[in-house]
Amino acid sequence: ATDLFGRSFLKELDFTAAEFRGLVELAAELKAAKKAGVEERRLQGRNIALIFEKTSTRTRCAFEVAAADQGAHTTYLDPSGSQMGHKESVRDTARVLGRMFDGIEYRGDSQQAVEELAAYSGVPVFNGLTDDWHPTQMLADVLTMTEHCAKPLERIAFAYLGDARFNMGNSYLVTGALLGMDVRIVAPKEYWPAEAVVARARELAASSGARITLTEEVAEGVAQADFVATDVWVSMGEPKEVWDERIAALAPYAVTMDVLHATGNPDVRFLHCLPAYHDLGTKVAREVHERHGLEWLEVSDEVFESAHSVVFDEAENRLHTIKAVLVATMAKPAA
Ligand code: CP
Ligand code: NVA
Repeated sequence: ATDLFGRSFLKELDFTAAEFRGLVELAAELKAAKKAGVEERRLQGRNIALIFEKTSTRTRCAFEVAAADQGAHTTYLDPSGSQMGHKESVRDTARVLGRMFDGIEYRGDSQQAVEELAAYSGVPVFNGLTDDWHPTQMLADVLTMTEHCAKPLERIAFAYLGDARFNMGNSYLVTGALLGMDVRIVAPKEYWPAEAVVARARELAASSGARITLTEEVAEGVAQADFVATDVWVSMGEPKEVWDERIAALAPYAVTMDVLHATGNPDVRFLHCLPAYHDLGTKVAREVHERHGLEWLEVSDEVFESAHSVVFDEAENRLHTIKAVLVATMAKPAA
């Protein structure tokens, strides 16, 4: 396996395509070992700090269970519970935590904060989501794609519909470009990733052979896609006032059965990093329902609950892929 010992994972492009693929392969091995009851504990005695300045279900649980499975210990610092950012700079926090922990996970708005933690802590740092990137999610998505599509990655086509200016849209675009995939961003132009991200993706595509499409046309964007993905239209940290404009702009990009049919691929699969607004099971969805009369937002309940949907495999794969990152970067390589 590729030697990633001591490395941080702050964004997808910290790794080469071969390293990224190596992590996905390691995750598949760790998943199989756990299911067979033969997992080896390679992180015994290691300590990992989990800083969450934003809430989380999957990412937090994946880090905690992955660490426990491997014999490591975690300390959870909740969205308001540490001094970082309030009474202590990121740089000082990094130098303190680096003296106590062997690895640090960070989730918050700021990509700069996660970069600073890595620069000053002296230990591997893992981005558990910032406004810019969601790299551990990409490992889970790619593992899920390999499990649900027999084609080699370079022949897989996926379309991301919705708000593509934020973490998920950016991450899908660069990950597809890095791995040589057929990646389509389907959204109104104002919701496409920033120019710099698109330019970097095009540069990568020139050497990886990736095909990159940015389009406002749903039918063109999803044609013959193997996977259709979306994300919430309003991300954590955004004010709820933006719902009205998002619904107005993005409603035509909601993933419905019509969209899946428009792929022309009867085996198309649906991906969503979750949490998802596919029913009225949350307060936000009920509020939006009262204002706009919509029963669901970025994805219909029909799609979410259909046989096309692999969202819970994707969620489970957060565990195996995050474990792969921890093992690859923190387990002492065999002498
Ligand atoms: N997909 C994801 O990151 O989920 P959480 O916000 O629950 O961690
Ligand atoms: N774009 C979403 C992803 C959640 C996992 C957010 O940042 O809230």
